[in-house]
Amino acid sequence: MNDNAYINALEMSARLTERPIRKAIKSLELRKDAQILDVPCGIGNHMLWMLEAYPDVSITGVDIAQTHIEYAKSNLGKAGKTDSYRCLTGDINRLEFPDNTFDLVWCCDGLYPGPKEEGYLAEEPYEILKNMFRITKTGGTVALLLLSSQKLLPGYPFIETALNAADSAILPFTPAADPELHFMCAPAWMRKTGFVNIEARTFTADFQGPLTEQNKTDLSSIINMFWTPRVEAQVSRETWENFKRITDPASSRCILDNQDYTGMITYTMYSGVVEH
Ligand SMILES: C[S@@+](CC[C@H](N)C(=O)[O-])C[C@H]1O[C@@H](n2cnc3c(N)ncnc32)[C@H](O)[C@@H]1O
Repeated sequence: MNDNAYINALEMSARLTERPIRKAIKSLELRKDAQILDVPCGIGNHMLWMLEAYPDVSITGVDIAQTHIEYAKSNLGKAGKTDSYRCLTGDINRLEFPDNTFDLVWCCDGLYPGPKEEGYLAEEPYEILKNMFRITKTGGTVALLLLSSQKLLPGYPFIETALNAADSAILPFTPAADPELHFMCAPAWMRKTGFVNIEARTFTADFQGPLTEQNKTDLSSIINMFWTPRVEAQVSRETWENFKRITDPASSRCILDNQDYTGMITYTMYSGVVEH
């Protein structure tokens, strides 16, 4: 994906996930003057929502992509936030902040263990988590947020189940992978790293018809991101054709045009508290 396409995808994802992510941010009940690290911060939307929820906190955003960092700066600048954040280019695998720096380390859509050559941030989560533990203050929290499920094809559960059952819909996890590397095992990653008070909480984005044109475009894009042509090769031709017929915005049978459409995606926040 080129830089512009990636930024557009992050904007699309922000429009779809704003409600659950804001709820997750609120649920953390941060102290007034908390020091926060958002890594990878992408284009800075979560930093903005944190500053809106907690105007007195200070946030450092780190991302490896210089273009995302520049976009994040302009995003936050346009919103009039100038002295309460900094955006740095950096690698999540090499966070060189001093020990005990942050009250919260926030990591959303980052830590799905997978091959680095395919763009995943790490093959295994432990080195990154250990370092996050080190830079978090005693009593502080590390929160990993991961897209945990989607239900987007109302009326067609067999099609949706068949698509989800394809290996490539579950990437980067593979059938041969160590079960503990599945993201739903994040509580085990945290326990083994030494975190206490580990919790899993799930936040939902509901989509309900009649959808706006923007909603339709965004949902159509995310549907095509979940169930890519790699999935096509693993399901029956009939399933794939029916899937295309009910999701192609140009089709007269497109379910996104249904005034009673409902769908959802969920984010699960795995949080753990640090005790040094
Ligand atoms: C799916 S986006 C998530 C961004 C943001 N947390 C959000 O939820 O909108 C993944 C981000 O990870 C960044 N990234 C990839 N590898 C990285 C690395 N090794 N260190 C830091 N950031 C990385 C990408 O540039 C991208 O902005």
